[in-house]
Amino acid sequence: MKISTLTKPLAEVTADALLIGLSTEDAAKLPTTLAVLDRATGGRLKSVLDAEKFQARAGQVTHLHIADRMPFGRLIVAGIGPRRGVTPDVLRRAGAGGVRRARDLGARTVAVALFGDRLPPERRAQALVEGAVLGTYTFDRYKKEKPDKLIDELRLVAPDARQQRLVTEGARTGEIFANATAFARDLVNAPANDVHPTHLAEVATEVAHGRGLKVNVYERAECAEFGMGAFLGVAAGSEQPPKFIHLTYTPSGPAARRVAVIGKGITFDAGGLDLKPADGMLRMKDDMSGAAAVLAVMRALPDLSPSVEVHGLIAATENMPSGSAFRPGDVLRAMNGTTIEIGNTDAEGRLTLADALAYAGSRVKPDEVVDLATLTGACVVALGPLCSGLFANDNRLANRLLSAAEAAGEKLWRLPLIDEYRENLKSDVADLNNVGPRGGGAITAALFLKEFAGDMPWAHFDIAGPAFTEKDLPLGPKGATGIAVRTLLTYLMTLRGSARARSGSSQRRARRRPR
Ligand code: BES
Ligand code: MN
Ligand code: ZN
Repeated sequence: MKISTLTKPLAEVTADALLIGLSTEDAAKLPTTLAVLDRATGGRLKSVLDAEKFQARAGQVTHLHIADRMPFGRLIVAGIGPRRGVTPDVLRRAGAGGVRRARDLGARTVAVALFGDRLPPERRAQALVEGAVLGTYTFDRYKKEKPDKLIDELRLVAPDARQQRLVTEGARTGEIFANATAFARDLVNAPANDVHPTHLAEVATEVAHGRGLKVNVYERAECAEFGMGAFLGVAAGSEQPPKFIHLTYTPSGPAARRVAVIGKGITFDAGGLDLKPADGMLRMKDDMSGAAAVLAVMRALPDLSPSVEVHGLIAATENMPSGSAFRPGDVLRAMNGTTIEIGNTDAEGRLTLADALAYAGSRVKPDEVVDLATLTGACVVALGPLCSGLFANDNRLANRLLSAAEAAGEKLWRLPLIDEYRENLKSDVADLNNVGPRGGGAITAALFLKEFAGDMPWAHFDIAGPAFTEKDLPLGPKGATGIAVRTLLTYLMTLRGSARARSGSSQRRARRRPR
């Protein structure tokens, strides 16, 4: 989808469709800009709204065909609810619903009025573009028949030339954020027979090349030299060779901070010898959603050029049962020397993340580390399919991530690291067991990871619920959601302004606590 901006009175915009937003207040009495449209259509806008008793609730969409009267064939009206309740997410959903309607009506070019006047123009533009791109996302790579209705171009209509500059800026950010999210969705939607660890390593290499990122892919032997016994234990049962991926983005100017982002990269989770039942295994191609998000974020960074050094880390493997698989009762030694007794081979994510965290601590030494993982069914039980769980050993880091998620329109709820539950991870033969009792499973998993974060400020996203949706959502069809990409990008972008001001270049490599 090509995205452009222009300044023109709405009645003169040329496109296959024009999308306007309508607040509840506007629906009762059309404001001047829309009254002009109504007059130009011979009062048809008002009569359709009246006939349908259109209340302009957020999410409501209607349309009229007016090719005989206007330079755009279709007028689409998206409700945005009461004016004071208009948030970027309301605009995202209105953009998504409205542009989807335009597509379904056969439009190829859509002009979008910059509605939602309470918010700054660049934020409105970003939200509308995110909604338009994500709301029309489809995954048809494996289908013979491709959809025939597609939007080629989105034209954002700014009210004046001064705002157009801001709108262009916001639209560009929205485009980068949405395309990154779609990139992650594609990776997760593609099946595990194609998206294996080698494929993830190839994607990482492609992403790095031409974008100035550094990439290292470590093979099994090198991981063994690092002492990644936990990661390699999980990999032991698979015919697919494991890959440890390390991508680095270095800003052109001084780096305000060094951040490591780790993504769980289980390209298929059969459960190992503790095999999952069929219905539990069915969706397990999505167990690399964290890795997909990390690849998507790293890919977008050069376009956004934040002043932070970012390291993307993925320990990629399958978790399969076989004669060479790791067994319940085995003891594995992680890269930091901690030994782990295997209580259940299906609690594999934390094992691969343990080594990725240890690697970060000893070889990257970041100022902070964030991991993204489809880690526990327990988190889905706790928060349902729409909300990720957040755990952190650092309150400021947690709060900054919660704000970023809010701004990005992704639901995130902090859960507690309850020290008393740490004893549930005790083992008779090793330093830790990889599982605890059923109750509080998301917490136990997070407590396990915390052991490997050491003294790094660390945050963990359990995205097991929102990574994949069984039904269509406002911002995308059923399937992979690309969750956490926009939260992380928002987060990394905010580190730019706040941190740059106090980054003396002499201090560059010194570890500083985030404020
Ligand atoms: N990948 C799963 C977690 C998961 C479950 C993600 C459902 C998405 C939907 C993870 O590796 C796993 O199997 N976790 C087990 C842990 C248990 C054995 C302690 C779980 O949650 O059941
Ligand atoms: Mn598992
Ligand atoms: Zn898993």
